[in-house]
Amino acid sequence: MTDSGIESLLQEDRLFPPSDEFAAQANAQAKVYDEGDDDFVAYWTRQALERITWFKEPTETLDDSNAPFFKWWADGELNIAYNCLDRHLETGGDKVAYHWIGEPGDTRTITYQQLSDDVNRFANGLRSLGVEKGDKVAIYMGMVPELAVAMLACARIGAPHSVIFGGFSAESIIDRVVDQDAKVLITCDGAWRRGSTIPLKDNCDTAMESTPSIEHCIVYERTKQDISMTEGRDVWWHDLVADQSTNCEPEVMGAEDLLYILYTSGTTAKPKGIMHTTGGYITGAVTTHSLVFDIKPETDVYWCAADIGWVTGHTYIVYGPLANHTTSVMYEGTPDYPEKDRLWSIVEEYGVTILYTAPTAIRAFMKWGAEYPKSRDLSSLRLLGSVGEPINPEAWMWYHEHIGSSNCPIVDTWWQTETGSIMISPLPGVTTTKPGSATKAIPGIAAEVVDKAGVPVPLGSGGFLTITKPWPAMLRSIYGDDDRYISTYWSEYEGRYFAGDGAKIDEDGYLWILGRVDDVMNISGHRISTMEVESALVSHPAVAESAVVGAADSLTGQAIVAFVTLRRGFEDSDDLNDELRKHVAIKIGAIARPKSIIFTPDLPKTRSGKIMRRLLRDISENRSLGDITTLANAEIVSAIASQAEALRSED
Ligand code: WTA
Repeated sequence: MTDSGIESLLQEDRLFPPSDEFAAQANAQAKVYDEGDDDFVAYWTRQALERITWFKEPTETLDDSNAPFFKWWADGELNIAYNCLDRHLETGGDKVAYHWIGEPGDTRTITYQQLSDDVNRFANGLRSLGVEKGDKVAIYMGMVPELAVAMLACARIGAPHSVIFGGFSAESIIDRVVDQDAKVLITCDGAWRRGSTIPLKDNCDTAMESTPSIEHCIVYERTKQDISMTEGRDVWWHDLVADQSTNCEPEVMGAEDLLYILYTSGTTAKPKGIMHTTGGYITGAVTTHSLVFDIKPETDVYWCAADIGWVTGHTYIVYGPLANHTTSVMYEGTPDYPEKDRLWSIVEEYGVTILYTAPTAIRAFMKWGAEYPKSRDLSSLRLLGSVGEPINPEAWMWYHEHIGSSNCPIVDTWWQTETGSIMISPLPGVTTTKPGSATKAIPGIAAEVVDKAGVPVPLGSGGFLTITKPWPAMLRSIYGDDDRYISTYWSEYEGRYFAGDGAKIDEDGYLWILGRVDDVMNISGHRISTMEVESALVSHPAVAESAVVGAADSLTGQAIVAFVTLRRGFEDSDDLNDELRKHVAIKIGAIARPKSIIFTPDLPKTRSGKIMRRLLRDISENRSLGDITTLANAEIVSAIASQAEALRSED
């Protein structure tokens, strides 16, 4: 442990300099760092003017007069759907936007022209239902191309969208829809998952009993499962678009108009509606997509294997790639269905050149074994990316050797729902990488590691990751809660954005992200708040109190461990254990289901009544417990520890 209380990592000495061959053709050259450092506002403004088509070019740049409510290019006017589609059509309408692969094996090839036609028809359909600029639209779909169509149609008519991950439950839909008063909900009958289906429309039906703001629910038919349609409220997608024209005038949007809200977990039970606006967000998306992934629109087949329900999919499946006129792969299913070589068979078949995935997936591939990638021809790959959590050096090396044949640069990209686009990452062709380090802030971004007092730490030590200058794709606020925006991100360290992550800066100035320092867990790269899971548990009649921690897990990064005390009259049992885990899955979604539940007569508390989560984390990770004399009820600790021990030996 260092002074700042942040644990530092093992020494990692392996260096991977870019090859001359890659460097010679790379989009990024070393001088971009100087350009970004010299004058970050001028640098980003140049990107905005060069990479984006504006209806009215901005004359204003960064407005920091009302910090932390920053504005970028506020007098500029544009439309993001226009930037993603229309501007490519004249010369490149025939180009493939998405090679889409359905989980059951059906495929679709969608050109920019077709995508544009679909978006225009659907945008007209939305308008025919009375959706106007500023109206909120919630989207709860599986990974079908129509999810991208729905988002782009919203962007076209200026209706902010809010995508709700298809794995979330009905209750999660309610929270999000109610928070923003969404007028329309777009869904599918169901979604394919490992050969069976998830009842998306049924979940919406349950949710809509408690969401009075929803006037219409639009249903795209994907699985053809039985669903019920409510007359007057529910509309089939295919009926809605049947007679619509492929011409829908794009709304002229101000650069600071809201593009979308995306909910993410914070340290309380209530998810935060992260707000992204138009001009800054798209500038961040296209610039990073081009520089970090070295996109060559003419030749690359790019694949971000994330779900569009998370920010990674928003920025790097939909907006960045389309605005850059890229050909992408979009895959509906999971990597192990029907076989554990599914991803590699797709890479082989489509000649994928760039692959962007998450450490949790890489660790699963490692576990399944190198024979799966080996059985396929992956020689088309030229660049690999990683996102969502710290990548262990071992997983980095495996990715490098077994997927990248030891000749693809790896970009380990650190960013967040809040940051909108990549912040810390190598630039391929420029940066020498170290396995496990996201390296340095990209040009135009300024990151510093500080101690508890907010003072930058010396090289070689650990602390808290902060961003010191505003950036275009940054969140503008939390929907409906400016105070929470200020207190969460801007209050901890004066004048700095605090990301909630711990980090170490090594002797070479390289950043090593150590993970969350707050009560947010990172399960398979997805953010889940301990409080959300605790609230879900306590909503069960048997539960009196609970404390939830994320314990290190070799596959999912962290796993959810819940400590539960029962109300009088309830006995712990295997059945109750199963029931509670299921209860959380119903309340939040399957990703939040605790891996284990430990029943205990009491929770360890300080004398002021605060639950000692750090201690529980130590117990779950089998670490020595240190001083527990400050506890009001120290005797409980050994009882909990022996239960945890018993659970571990069952594993
Ligand atoms: C973590 C995902 C280490 C981090 C884009 C951050 C990472 C949270 C990395 C944001 C990385 C993301 N290395 N940790 N390359 N990328 N994280 O909002 O804790 O779903 O704060 O955005 O994921 O998760 P979010």
